Amino acid sequence: MATTGRPRAMSGTIPSMESSAHESLTDNTVIVVLGASGDLAKKKTYPALFGLYRMGFLPRDVKIVGYARTKMDSAEYHKRITSYIKVADDDADGKAAVEAFKGFSSYVSGGYEDGPSFENLNKTLEEIESKYQSKERNRLFYFALPPSVFIPVAQHLKEQCYSKDGKNRIIVEKPFGKDLDSCRTLLSSLKQHWTEDETFRIDHYLGKEMVKNILVLRFANIALNAAWDKNSISNVQITFKEPFGTEGRGGYFDEFGVIRDILQNHLLQVLSILTMERPVSFSAEDIRDEKVKVLRAIPPIERNDTLLGQYVAANGKPGYLDDDTVPPNSVCPTYAATTLWIHNPRWEGVPFILKAGKALNEAKVEVRIQFKDVTQGIFKDISRNELVLRIQPSEAVYLKLNTKTPGLNTRAIPTEMDLTYKRRFTEVKIPEAYEALILDALRGDHSNFVRDDELEVAWKIFTPILHWIDGKNGPAPKPVPYPYGSRGPKELDPFISKYGYKRTVAE
Ligand code: BG6
Repeated sequence: MATTGRPRAMSGTIPSMESSAHESLTDNTVIVVLGASGDLAKKKTYPALFGLYRMGFLPRDVKIVGYARTKMDSAEYHKRITSYIKVADDDADGKAAVEAFKGFSSYVSGGYEDGPSFENLNKTLEEIESKYQSKERNRLFYFALPPSVFIPVAQHLKEQCYSKDGKNRIIVEKPFGKDLDSCRTLLSSLKQHWTEDETFRIDHYLGKEMVKNILVLRFANIALNAAWDKNSISNVQITFKEPFGTEGRGGYFDEFGVIRDILQNHLLQVLSILTMERPVSFSAEDIRDEKVKVLRAIPPIERNDTLLGQYVAANGKPGYLDDDTVPPNSVCPTYAATTLWIHNPRWEGVPFILKAGKALNEAKVEVRIQFKDVTQGIFKDISRNELVLRIQPSEAVYLKLNTKTPGLNTRAIPTEMDLTYKRRFTEVKIPEAYEALILDALRGDHSNFVRDDELEVAWKIFTPILHWIDGKNGPAPKPVPYPYGSRGPKELDPFISKYGYKRTVAE
């Protein structure tokens, strides 16, 4: 039967994921973007808000207020916030939408640490709200801010800008601390002002389509679910590759390194969804309870399960240390591979290899689940099955299978059952992660946001290895060099095969 890629009405619904209308901000809402002049706001927040506006998902008559220290007039603000919004030259509707978007977006400048600035912001919000027909006043505050000002801003918003007649929510971005202690300090300071219910901690990987798909793939497919354990799976790799280096962002990066930037949050989130037990329902708390449970079964990472690298100049591109914003002789890793173990009955003995690197040969994020060998005897040199979830670019799920070579020879060859989204779901536009997440926050759905206890346990896993890398317990380890534009350190292949990964036999 031909399939169209369009879901049939009402089939496959997930009742516990339907967010309650009660929590949704549908009217009388102002979205305040703090850090409105910065890079994150310009590149991600505003384009996502615009995307939601165009798709009709922003609250009715919404107003957006940008707030930052930079002094700028309306024209300059509008130019900045639309600089990353893509509209084709011949798209008249799109252009009109951009103009309309500017029409309900305004700007207030002010400091992050002084009360009067926030009183001034509040005055602007009240002015906007005075035109509302009803008494309800909802405010969604988006922190596109450096972590150094999270706490004063959270405090001032609560003291000067908290709406007494409606819902207030904050969306915050990583970094949530640098290790377990600093994360605890940050969490407890934020909690003095904002409840867990009002707080939406973004890990934007949780908004990616293929990451959201993992729960459905696992729990809506009995065929996959049956093979989802140590009896069938040999090893799992979760890989993040970027083809560019720090390029001017070295100051920030050097303080954090690739483990804090990617592994401890984005890749660990993927791992937890991939390995958690079936939740009682798909409601936010049920999902997050299971994620925390599986993370608690992971002990801190061992040094000898870790490979660290740093890129050096090659192919006409500068090395990490050539970046002017990086301190000379920095031993900050720009590449890391670490293997995690889960001590529970489902996963005991299965290595989960998390790998991430900057300045590599390609842009790719994927999960590669390699199954065990088939029982020996019938076949010789037969490839293992692999299930690959390609998160980006070009979302896909494919399964490497052995099939009989078509024709008169009876031999097995490895081939792929391939679900590439672009080919299968031709009419669907995959939303940007930030669009999906801001919409979730407007709807009051926490499922794809990070709960406080998830953060704690994530830091417990990574803090000892990070302290070692930071040189807190003796000399810091020296990362191995790898050329800009390469696959990563040459030590990578032996590292992965140490955990049982077998490369597919090429035909
Ligand atoms: C961010 C990191 O969290 O994720 C960046 O700080 C990284 O260093 C980015 O480039 C990657 O996000 P994406 O969505 O492009 O994979």
